[in-house]
Amino acid sequence: MAAAPQAVFWLGNDTLRVSAQLFAENRRRLCLGLKAKEGVDACSIVVLQGGEQLQRHCTDTDLLFRQESFFHWAFGVTEADCYGAIEVDSGKSILFVPKLPESYATWMGEIHSKDHFKKKYAVDEVCYICDIAQVLSNLKPSVLLTLRGQNTDSGSVSREASFEGISQFQVNNMLLHPVIVECRLVKTDMELEVLRYTNKVSSDAHKMIMKSVKPGQQEYEMESLFQHYCYSKGGMRHTSYTCICGTGNNSSVLHYGHAGAPNDKIIMDGDMCLFDMGGEYYCYSSDITCSFPANGKFTRDQRAIYEAVLKASRKVMSAIKPGVKWTDMHRLADRVHLEELVKVGILKGSVEEMMKVHLGAVFMPHGLGHLLGIDVHDVGGYPEGVERINEPGLKSLRMGRLVQERMVLTVEPGIYFINHLLDEALKDPARSCFINDQVLGRFRGFGGVRIEDDIAVTADGIELLTCVPRTVDEIEAFMSQSDKPFSQLVSSKEI
Ligand code: GLY
Ligand code: MN
Ligand code: MN
Repeated sequence: MAAAPQAVFWLGNDTLRVSAQLFAENRRRLCLGLKAKEGVDACSIVVLQGGEQLQRHCTDTDLLFRQESFFHWAFGVTEADCYGAIEVDSGKSILFVPKLPESYATWMGEIHSKDHFKKKYAVDEVCYICDIAQVLSNLKPSVLLTLRGQNTDSGSVSREASFEGISQFQVNNMLLHPVIVECRLVKTDMELEVLRYTNKVSSDAHKMIMKSVKPGQQEYEMESLFQHYCYSKGGMRHTSYTCICGTGNNSSVLHYGHAGAPNDKIIMDGDMCLFDMGGEYYCYSSDITCSFPANGKFTRDQRAIYEAVLKASRKVMSAIKPGVKWTDMHRLADRVHLEELVKVGILKGSVEEMMKVHLGAVFMPHGLGHLLGIDVHDVGGYPEGVERINEPGLKSLRMGRLVQERMVLTVEPGIYFINHLLDEALKDPARSCFINDQVLGRFRGFGGVRIEDDIAVTADGIELLTCVPRTVDEIEAFMSQSDKPFSQLVSSKEI
């Protein structure tokens, strides 16, 4: 049997082996993209600066390091405080690592040689950062391409590479960002394999939680179980974002779980649970939400809202294919929600007229979904020339462009009963005329339902990456199957 190619990242057991070829392929695509771009000289060199090791506030306590996403995409380097260069014409890659003091060997462990990093990361050359200006100057670049650009979700600007001696070079910080963002948007086969893995492990972790949740437990116990499963079984040291474990009314708080609302309520019998959690492997994300009743049995109202959201999810998924407008998919989910809320009796009148006053955004104030990759809200949603639509709901959509093959996206419709949004709509005659306040009253305090799946866009449709029980029958059957203790669940391969 032929030996498996050496992995640049593998954490033993059943964790995924990732080849350094994934990053070589990314660099190759980046060079192709740059060569095709007007204004890029063949003698340019890309210079990226990796993430820095940071400390807690003013102390000497290290924060757990996570690589900067663009640098990870291009080099797959797990260590902090590195730089990378790529010659656009030849594709030659150079990794720059810090020259570490002897004390590092005492406190932090072995100081690896340049040759160690060259073999590990399969780059063409490894040099010390203290030599970066000399090494780059020997290559006689016409210009250094550094990364400066705005993240369209956060509004933050990427940190451009900087090093001692950079002033002796011609630097262009405008050309690289749009090209590398377009490369990150389209996932390669090797990247898709990692995203399938993050989804498999995270789906299994969600399933384990569905089997172990009981009224009387704390929300944070579910966060803890998820993290333990993902790390112990999947080698995921990080989650892709702060775990959201909202139950009861907390399930209507879109980004619940932060320091001000830290998953600290007791789960009650009759509560809906909305658990939005995703594990991250080697910096690749997942983003999955499961909604279900804490006691494993849907009430009539819980079933009605859940099935309304599921209908939207499935209608959207069957419509997605290359060329479709993502904004149309958002509107489709809104329309299905409104139609179903009429059937429940919360709304009355013409859905067409409701769409004109954006009534859907009262119940789903967030966007339908977003790009997913090395960042959970991955880059590329609004390239130059694609404007955000300034309408309720759609203004929160993180992608405005057409769906493309090899994009990875979340599909995450939801219906929430958020008191201040309901009160605002009831005060507005243009919207309150559609609302049956009496029936709505029954749903105050219900919380919300979100169903979030990750998909990869194929040539003619989608590949569903997430695999969890989704219909009411599947969830109820699954939750009734077992109440094995957690220790048995994590050691079982049958989740
Ligand atoms: N978990 C954050 C989101 O769903 O976008
Ligand atoms: Mn999510
Ligand atoms: Mn999401």
